Amino acid sequence: MKILMVCLGNICRSPLADGILRHKVNTLKLNIIVDSAGTANYHIGKAPDKRMIATAKMRGVDIGFLKARQFKYIDFQEFDQIFVMDNNNYEHVIQLARTDQEKKKVKLLLDFINDNQLKEVPDPYYGTQADFDEVYELVDRATDAIIESYLIDEKR
Ligand code: 4NP
Repeated sequence: MKILMVCLGNICRSPLADGILRHKVNTLKLNIIVDSAGTANYHIGKAPDKRMIATAKMRGVDIGFLKARQFKYIDFQEFDQIFVMDNNNYEHVIQLARTDQEKKKVKLLLDFINDNQLKEVPDPYYGTQADFDEVYELVDRATDAIIESYLIDEKR
């Protein structure tokens, strides 16, 4: 199974989602490959935002080694599931899809948390530490749900 996390810049939300899921996958020794990308090209090659690195580090998750890259068409072939952080990311990625099968791979990350009122992971870039913490909590819950669903599918 290969999972791609996507946001706008690939320096805040998607590297966090990538890092948290990778951390859980490694701990549980699951056969899931995780990566992330941004729809924009502003930050290609950069490490994640320092505030997001610190927010993750406080919870024991290292994301400092990740480097931003832009989402590209070939990702539809490379990945089984593509999780986007917000509706803008969704529109951007869907527009690049060429088949219904490719479109079906794309889902909002928070659709994985059933009871969640928020449908989008808020962009923390211009926010405060509380916004970064909120992103962490949301992504933590969503990645738990992804793993749960993976384990259920594996048992079938
Ligand atoms: P991300 O956050 O999409 O979660 O990586 C952002 C990072 C950079 C910008 C916007 C959002 N920016 O405008 O540079």
